Amino acid sequence: MPTLLISGANRGIGLELARQFSAGGWTVIGTARDVAAATELAALPNTTAMQLEATDGDSIAALVKQLDGQPIDVLIANAGIAVNLAAKPAEVTREDFLHVVRTNTFAPLALAGALKANILASERKIALAMSSLMSSIEANNWATQYTYRASKTGLNAVWTALTQEWKPLGITCGLIRPGMVATQMTDFKGIAVETSVAGLKKVVEGLTPADAGRIIGYDGTDVPW
Ligand SMILES: NC(=O)c1ccc[n+]([C@@H]2O[C@H](COP(=O)([O-])OP(=O)(O)OC[C@H]3O[C@@H](n4cnc5c(N)ncnc54)[C@H](OP(=O)(O)O)[C@@H]3O)[C@@H](O)[C@H]2O)c1
Repeated sequence: MPTLLISGANRGIGLELARQFSAGGWTVIGTARDVAAATELAALPNTTAMQLEATDGDSIAALVKQLDGQPIDVLIANAGIAVNLAAKPAEVTREDFLHVVRTNTFAPLALAGALKANILASERKIALAMSSLMSSIEANNWATQYTYRASKTGLNAVWTALTQEWKPLGITCGLIRPGMVATQMTDFKGIAVETSVAGLKKVVEGLTPADAGRIIGYDGTDVPW
């Protein structure tokens, strides 16, 4: 069965992705910052929990070493944060801004770059990152969420460049959007995580090289940005 690596798989959308893909027979590698506490993840069938602090280069290198060349058919760079979403411009701090961009924009790129050989060694060769409607400039018709928006629009930009760079190698890169999902990030407002992930699983399993560069919603529709 194909292998899926999901970052930030100890809770929220990442944990549900691990749950549904492992139930579907996939081999799942789910990462957690505190791997000892990731008991729900580790208890899933066909699933291995591995440690990853996604913003830390040493932690990424340790993960790659632990994988020891294991093929990764699908990467989902899912780990992400939202900090002080309602902050007015004067309340957005440099620290918050850089922390969010480091986590949501830089870390997925760093992880994908580090796992390139593992992805290339696989059959499906797919690299995905978790975007958001908040990444969209076209759909941005209300204020707030300065740091989060910047980080996810930036993610779209780096992933689009990665799409071009890796297309000739046969790697299909794409962005997925879960919808507004009831997790800790949204104070549990939004659609059920099971619904979002059931849609995302269908999207991921149906991906072909022709989908490279798309931002695809959990309902299969394209996200304008
Ligand atoms: N929920 C939504 O409505 C929504 C909408 C659009 C996009 N998204 C995106 O979907 C992804 C998952 O969101 P969620 O709703 O599931 O959020 P969540 O419940 O807050 O979970 C976030 C996950 O990311 C991990 N994480 C955060 N920073 C990390 C870091 N530096 N290194 C490693 N792991 C880190 C967290 O680990 P810890 O437990 O250690 O903190 C947790 O596992 C995010 O990229 C988010 O931006 C969510």
